[in-house]
Amino acid sequence: MSNNSTKNEKMESIVSLAKRRGFIFQGSDVYGGLSGTWDYGPLGSALKRNIMNLWWKMFVEDRDDMYGVDAAILMNQKVWQASGHVATFADPLVEDLKTNQRFRADHLIKDAGFSADGLTFEAIDNLIKEKGIKSPSGNDLSPVRSFNMMFRTNVGPVEDESSISYLRPETAQGIFTNFKNVVDTFYPDLPFGIGQQGKAFRNEISPRDFIFRSREFEQMEIEYFVHPEKWEESFEMWRQLVWKWCEAIGLPSSSVHELEVPAEDRAHYSKRTIDFEFDFPIGREELLGLAYRTDFDLGNIQRVSGKSMEYSVKGTNEKLVPHVIEPSFGVERAVMAVLSTAYTEDEVNGEKRVYLKLPAHLAPVKYAVSPLLKNKPELVEKAKTVYLMLKKQVGAVMWDDNGNIGKRYRRQDEIGTPYCIVIDFETLEDDTVTIRDRDTTNQTRVKISDILPPARA
Ligand code: GAP
Repeated sequence: MSNNSTKNEKMESIVSLAKRRGFIFQGSDVYGGLSGTWDYGPLGSALKRNIMNLWWKMFVEDRDDMYGVDAAILMNQKVWQASGHVATFADPLVEDLKTNQRFRADHLIKDAGFSADGLTFEAIDNLIKEKGIKSPSGNDLSPVRSFNMMFRTNVGPVEDESSISYLRPETAQGIFTNFKNVVDTFYPDLPFGIGQQGKAFRNEISPRDFIFRSREFEQMEIEYFVHPEKWEESFEMWRQLVWKWCEAIGLPSSSVHELEVPAEDRAHYSKRTIDFEFDFPIGREELLGLAYRTDFDLGNIQRVSGKSMEYSVKGTNEKLVPHVIEPSFGVERAVMAVLSTAYTEDEVNGEKRVYLKLPAHLAPVKYAVSPLLKNKPELVEKAKTVYLMLKKQVGAVMWDDNGNIGKRYRRQDEIGTPYCIVIDFETLEDDTVTIRDRDTTNQTRVKISDILPPARA
């Protein structure tokens, strides 16, 4: 079996587990789906929330130099004109000349084993001709054209030019437009940052690879405002913090790689970008980005709005428009990296076992509590007491009395529950329970009062 098909098998197994066990479903599935959209079920939403809460705690709550905001998704169209998104937020689109299906030219080129990085549309056309690249159905392709990825809408009852707005394609602009508000209300010292989490929307030409490339997704972004002469030290600080983040969500450092993005491939606003790539089952792809955005955004806001974005450096007469370091994290890619790291197959007592080796602080369920036998009222009653006690302390605790103990363990393994607690007849005598460890499958007897809750995310 080729390496690629093994990788795709792993991806398929993860997608199937995610659906089967209530993590992630196709969006609008009941009506045949809506391409590029995904719904998080009870376990998926808990996993995603744990990842997002960890980020918020690590990068906003625990730091003195960070402020959180939650800006509106719909913004004045001038935001997207000033930011350059109306003019340049576009991908190269080609059409299958027979089926009229549309594709991203750079993806077809990559699938054919070449690269479109840094190429102009003309050069892409030439490469397609030169290498004889066809559509996936084997047909000729149209010349490349630019396709803007923003979803356009109208705000209010009148549909004219002045009511045009866009679903935000990045959360970053909601931060930049609040820069002055935060400065004027909190008087932060430079350097300081503003963080935001929330939905972003991109009309991707070809959404693919499960949640990896979606049309609606979630970002966690920081704009870190710095003195223009000191951008390099803050860039380095965030580079290290990104590595800390990868470690905090349990990604092996050997699977994370830095890619210094060459000038011709960087976004229009960036003077330096490092893409942090991850070895996903679909291959090595971008997990998150770290960019030096200079004063591009605040400068544009100042120019277009006519309002000063200058910051008065405390204790000096210096006034300046700060420069910006931007670590930009995608939630879906974090979820996918965490799931693919956690997905494990092994053998227990000669039987294949599938389990999610999730870090306990990210696991949607921390403890499953069961009575050994569900038809023994005294066991059920005692188990309920333990369940309610833990639920109060930990929150994410599941009651599970379905099927025999072996089946319960398998079910909990599949959703990544680190510990299963079983109440048996011995419990009634000495207040001890069996705790079974997901990864080792070892069982130990522990006093109920000694059960330690795993750290909350
Ligand atoms: N504000 C900068 C910015 O948005 P980006 O590299 O376009 O930069 C940042 O996006 C991150 O958002 C990516 O590294 C990725 O994790 C996530 N992301 C971007 N497009 C996505 C998509 N279509 N589906 C899922 N995640 C996406």
